[in-house]
Amino acid sequence: NELYAVVGHPVSHSKSPRIHSLFASQTGEPVEYIAIQAPLDGFAETVRHFFEGGGKGLNVTVPFKEQAWALAQSRTARAEKAGAANTLYQNSQGQLVADNTDGQGLVQDLITNHSVQLKGARILVLGAGGAVRGVLGPLLAQQPASLTIANRTVAKAEALATLFADEAGATTLGACGFEAPDQPFDVIINGTSASLQGDLPPLCANVIAAGTVVYDMMYSLQTTTFNQWALDNGATRVFDGVGMLVEQAAESFRVWRGVRPETVPVIETLRSD
Ligand code: ATR
Repeated sequence: NELYAVVGHPVSHSKSPRIHSLFASQTGEPVEYIAIQAPLDGFAETVRHFFEGGGKGLNVTVPFKEQAWALAQSRTARAEKAGAANTLYQNSQGQLVADNTDGQGLVQDLITNHSVQLKGARILVLGAGGAVRGVLGPLLAQQPASLTIANRTVAKAEALATLFADEAGATTLGACGFEAPDQPFDVIINGTSASLQGDLPPLCANVIAAGTVVYDMMYSLQTTTFNQWALDNGATRVFDGVGMLVEQAAESFRVWRGVRPETVPVIETLRSD
């Protein structure tokens, strides 16, 4: 078997080993996939050691995605703009390549698994940290009518809007604080880490209409704090990040193995685990 792993700190909660072992059995690919906890000051050393030992590919999770990006000698276009990498491998010249499959995972989950129309949609994205930066390029590539980035620290939302202006095309790309938007959106994506502290972004409930699709990028067994708020305010189509998690994994598997696994059965298995 060929060896793959997810590197993080902490990493014991990661679903990636489970997801990739389901992909391996489904596709028959000779993949063994483990979790590695790197010391907080030892990410680069852990990566070097893994590839020197014959490892084939890594996923990278919190808090190392930016370090993975910086460490790589080569980056895919989508990783370059994301400023962070969740996927590493070596090319035929032995260079470390960084990719980022998070945004593709989100878009794939919305379009394919939830039949959400992104082209022409009015999209509200909450948050302006690394998680949001990773998904803006793939969202803009779907040509929404507008994409509004709302954040607690407005200057960070503005900086992201400036950074992605060259990928906006005909999309109206804007930035604001949480309180500003007061019209319904077609799609609202929560990319803040506020729920981790049990906090809610102070949004006006008018951003939700009956048809609004609400997506919390956080993966949770229970309804997330944000999604519960949306349901309480009339949303009917509310999703969490489990599909994104499986889709980004499938895209990494495809990058490494050239085979894209079926994701729906894996999403169903995770939900019933
Ligand atoms: P990540 O990698 O998860 O994106 P990050 O880069 O630290 O982590 O970004 C966290 C995001 O969640 C930021 O947009 C942050 O807002 P600020 O830019 O104002 O810090 C947002 N966030 C974190 N805690 C929050 C809270 N309690 N309420 C609202 N937004 C919060």
